[in-house]
Amino acid sequence: TERSLVIVKPDGYRRGLTGEVLRRIEAKGYTLAALQVTEATREQLAEHYAEHEGKPFYEPLVEFMSSGPIVVAVIEGNDCIKGFRSLAGATNPTEAAPGSIRGDLGRDWGLKVQQNIVHGSDSTESAEREIGIWFPNL
Ligand code: GTP
Ligand code: MG
Repeated sequence: TERSLVIVKPDGYRRGLTGEVLRRIEAKGYTLAALQVTEATREQLAEHYAEHEGKPFYEPLVEFMSSGPIVVAVIEGNDCIKGFRSLAGATNPTEAAPGSIRGDLGRDWGLKVQQNIVHGSDSTESAEREIGIWFPNL
């Protein structure tokens, strides 16, 4: 079994899609190991998005991620890192396949409009690193 860090981003929370995202996670057979509604601090976002520092979309991304409440979850299940990224779909909602969270529910995309509803860890290393940022007691 494996753990992944999932975030319902401010656009997803604002649009009332938290339940829909969690429903898809549970329907897939993954379990929720931790779940929290929170507002991200600059420190947490700087750590979380360290790999993107210096890129043109970094500042708008951090700005967007601090624009309202988010829901942070640790999910558990066989191959759930890859599995959740497949549930989420491609980063750009316009390109995300129908059937995926971003493909079915995602809309705008642009340099300052990186609203794509969810985040999911991309490797076991990032999952453990990210879980440490958002759930230091896990
Ligand atoms: P996450 O699960 O959120 O990490 O998405 P990802 O792994 O599919 O994408 P990546 O880690 O490469 O980028 C993190 C986030 O930065 C994305 O989800 C977008 O919100 C934003 N982002 C990435 N690339 C771009 C880009 O080219 N333009 C803009 N505007 N935003 C981007
Ligand atoms: Mg990523």
